[in-house]
Amino acid sequence: MTSAASPPNGHVLLAVSGGIAAYKVPELVRQLGRAGHEVRCILTEAATRFVSPMVLQTLTGAPARSELFDAGEEGEISHIELADWADVVLVAPATADLLARMAGGLAGDLVSTVLLATRAPVLVAPAMNVNMWRHPATQRNLERLRERGVQVEGPEAGELACGWEGEGRMSDPTALAGRVGLMLGGHGWRGVGVLVTAGGTREPIDAVRAVTNRSSGKMGFAIAAEAARRGAEVVLVAGPCSLETPPGVRRVDVETALEMEAAVHESFESCHVAVMSAAVADFRPATPSERKIKKEDLAPGAGLRLELVPNPDILAGISARRGDRVVVGFAAESHDVIEAAKRKLARKACDLLVANDISRSDAGFDTDTNAVFLVSPGGQVEELPLLSKAEVAARLLDRIEKLRGVVR
Ligand code: CTP
Repeated sequence: MTSAASPPNGHVLLAVSGGIAAYKVPELVRQLGRAGHEVRCILTEAATRFVSPMVLQTLTGAPARSELFDAGEEGEISHIELADWADVVLVAPATADLLARMAGGLAGDLVSTVLLATRAPVLVAPAMNVNMWRHPATQRNLERLRERGVQVEGPEAGELACGWEGEGRMSDPTALAGRVGLMLGGHGWRGVGVLVTAGGTREPIDAVRAVTNRSSGKMGFAIAAEAARRGAEVVLVAGPCSLETPPGVRRVDVETALEMEAAVHESFESCHVAVMSAAVADFRPATPSERKIKKEDLAPGAGLRLELVPNPDILAGISARRGDRVVVGFAAESHDVIEAAKRKLARKACDLLVANDISRSDAGFDTDTNAVFLVSPGGQVEELPLLSKAEVAARLLDRIEKLRGVVR
């Protein structure tokens, strides 16, 4: 049963169990709220030692319960009503103990009882020590849960609070919120065609050498991943890079700007949103040699003159024929960031420009974080704080969502 009074973006019941990753829960609640979900929290007894129910109550505006037999709280909304209220149950962090109890169908406390009683889809975000995670008992429990349709996000590999390295970190709140959005129907992104370009292009000089740039593709891949998580149909046109294709994304690999242009034009017709985050080489060698240029073929001590010719501006090209599509450009600037971005936005006639200050060491090329300005045609500038590229992607898609409402 789903509550008849569900808001458009649904009810999310967040069940918190007792692990150190519970410190990320307030941020998770914030992100779920920002995505328009109504959130309520329940906690295991152990979880209350890692995150305060009062904090969660303040953030959600609803009691954050941990007791099964609290007469006052049960009077307000019973544990069965809570189980029925949920459109999705997110268990984050999910400890090895709670996964075992879920797999075994135990119902000895509020969280496990609600999990047994609910008919809503359940997403678990495991977080634990790497050896506990790899233990056959945990893996078997997870398998049993998966067989019953429970969805699993993470854990991620990295440095763990217990001092070990390996899988066990709870997934990023942005990733969890995105997955919940997808389970609830994806914010209206279902069926929306999103075309993303990412990475640098490589313009051959000869059979082994090329002109290229330092773009890693991370920002574009994060945008493609987030759009897919929200249910969009994503085509990612990627320059040469070693990143993994995000789940649910159709990837088209290209090398040169001309190949990127052709791939973009091919997918542009069927897209509703185009985000051009690639660092396209502005120039290419005029006459690339099919064979390796040998030094012995040059006069002794002579330099090599390269003639470069301009590449087409892919973004300007699609902007000119965008119809009712939303077109977003990027700008890599090393100085006068905002003024240069405003000029670029006007020149390329896009609906939004994401400006990067590449002079910062914690933002721009090949970093995991980014600090950007969102520049609108009206001259408005929104400065985002330093965020992970996944979070920048989520903020950007939130913004595009609003633009789609206006532009379409
Ligand atoms: N872009 C493009 N085709 C090009 C060059 C850039 O589509 N030949 C797109 C990029 O994908 C990005 C935006 O245009 O969305 C701005 O890219 P950027 O490199 O910052 O600007 P340029 O146009 O190259 O201008 P400049 O190098 O003078 O800053």
